[in-house]
Amino acid sequence: MVVLHQALVVLTLLLCKGLAFEKVFDTNIPGHMEPLGSHAHPSQVETRWTVPTPEEFYRLYTSASKPVVLKGAATRFPAYRLWTDSYLRNYGNWKVVVEEGKKEDRSKPTYTMSMNEFLDTYKARDVYLVHDLVPPNPMTEEVLLPKPITCGGFQHNIQSVVLWFSSGGTESTFHAEQVDNLECMFDGWKEYLLISKKDGETILDEDEGKYQEMDVEKVDMTIFPEIAQLPWYKLHVEPGDCFFVPQGWLHFVNSSKTRNMAISFWLTHQYRVVDDCHRPDQRKEVLSQITISDAGESSRVAFLDLFFGKPNMTLPVFLKFFSTEEAKQEETENMQANQSRESLMQRWMEIHKSKNSLKTFQQIDKNGDNLLSVDEVYNAPLVFFEKLIGGLGEEYAKYETVGDDEGKSGEDILKERKRMFLRNEL
Ligand SMILES: *[C@@H]1O[C@H](CO)[C@@H](O)[C@H](O)[C@H]1NC(C)=O
Ligand SMILES: *[C@@H]1O[C@H](CO)[C@@H](O)[C@H](O)[C@H]1NC(C)=O
Ligand SMILES: *[C@@H]1O[C@H](CO)[C@@H](O)[C@H](O)[C@H]1NC(C)=O
Repeated sequence: MVVLHQALVVLTLLLCKGLAFEKVFDTNIPGHMEPLGSHAHPSQVETRWTVPTPEEFYRLYTSASKPVVLKGAATRFPAYRLWTDSYLRNYGNWKVVVEEGKKEDRSKPTYTMSMNEFLDTYKARDVYLVHDLVPPNPMTEEVLLPKPITCGGFQHNIQSVVLWFSSGGTESTFHAEQVDNLECMFDGWKEYLLISKKDGETILDEDEGKYQEMDVEKVDMTIFPEIAQLPWYKLHVEPGDCFFVPQGWLHFVNSSKTRNMAISFWLTHQYRVVDDCHRPDQRKEVLSQITISDAGESSRVAFLDLFFGKPNMTLPVFLKFFSTEEAKQEETENMQANQSRESLMQRWMEIHKSKNSLKTFQQIDKNGDNLLSVDEVYNAPLVFFEKLIGGLGEEYAKYETVGDDEGKSGEDILKERKRMFLRNEL
C-alpha cells in the first residue's frame, strides 16, 4: 500500500513536471491564457461622423459585409435623452425578460419580471435585461430608426429590436449572428472583437460548438491555434453612437462596468436596395411605425445566398441544390453521355418536369428566361422558399438510411450542399 502510494506520488510529480514544462513552452504562444484578442493587434473598424444614406449603407456596408461605427447617430433619439432609471418607472409595470448572468451562458434560464422589479435590483444582481421592444409597446415611440434603415427596403426587413440593459461588465460568448445588426448605445460603452464572415467560415466549418465553449477571459491558444492566423477587428462605441456588425461576423462583446443600455435592430440580410427613399409614405422614422418582418424571410435569404454574389441563378445550379435524389441519379447517367449544353438542359427539364422543385423554379422565373433574378426572388411568395429548403430535410430522411443523418433540418442540408458546391463536389 505504501509502495503504491509512493509510486503514485512519483508519478504525480512526473506529470506535474511535464505539465509545468509544457506551460513554460506554451507561454511563448502570443495571447495564451489571456483575454480573447490579446494575441495580436486588431485593426480598427471604420468610423464615420456623417451618417450614410440607405443606398450607401447597402453598397458600402451591408452588401460589402463591412462593419462601421456611426458616431453620434443615436443622440437625436428621444430615448437617448429620456431613459434614466427614474423615467423608466413610467413603464414600471411592463414585463421584461431577464437573463441570469451578465457573462453569457446559454444553458442558464431566463425569467420574467416587471420593469420596476428590474430597476429595484439590477445594480446588485447578476442579471441582464434582454427584451424585444416592438409595437405596440409605448416605449417604441421614443426610439427612432437609425437614418440608414428608414427606407431602401430596410424598414420592412427588421426581424427584431432588442433592448439590452444591465449594470455593465457583460461578456458574450464568441459567436456569429445570422442577421445584420445595427445597434445604438444609450449608456455606457461596448467593445467588440471581430473576425470577418469570410475568415470566420473557414474556422466555423471545423467545429462550431468549440467556439461557444471558449473561455474568453483565458483563451487556451493550443485549442484555438487557428485564430492566431486570422485578422482581427476592434470596435469601441460610446453613448450616442450606433454601429453595424454584418451577418456572419464572429464576435465577442464586452461592456463598461457602468450602467449599460443599447438597442439593436436585427435586419434580415438584404440582397438589393429598394429605390423608395423619395417617397415619404414609404419611410419609417419611428420604431412604433414599423411592422416586424416574417421570421420565414430567413429562407428567402438562404436561397439568395446561393447566388454567390452573382446577379442570377441558372437552372442547373438550382437543380444541384433542389433536385430529388432520383432525378440526380438520372442526371449523372445522362451527364456521362457527350451532350451539348442545350441538349443537357433539355434533358434536365424532362427529368424534372413532374417534380415539384422544377415547377417552383418556373413559378419564380416570371419572365421565363430560365434564370432567376434577385428581383424575381423578392417578388415570389415566401412559401416557395420555405418549401424548397424545408423540403430538403424530408427528402434527405427519405433517401438516406444512415442513422446520424436523421433529423437534419433543411437548413443543415443546404449548408452541407453549399460546402460541397463550393468544393465542386455537388
Ligand atoms: C472585458 O473587459 C474587462 C474590463 O472591463 C477586462 O478585465 C476583461 O479581460 C475583458 N474581457 C475580454 C475577454 O476581453
Ligand atoms: C446572369 O449572370 C451572369 C453572371 O453570372 C451575367 O454574366 C449575365 O449577364 C446575367 N444575365 C442576366 C440576364 O442577368
Ligand atoms: C464530344 O463531342 C464533340 C463534338 O460534338 C467532340 O468534339 C468531342 O471530342 C466529344 N468529347 C468526348 C469526350 O467524346
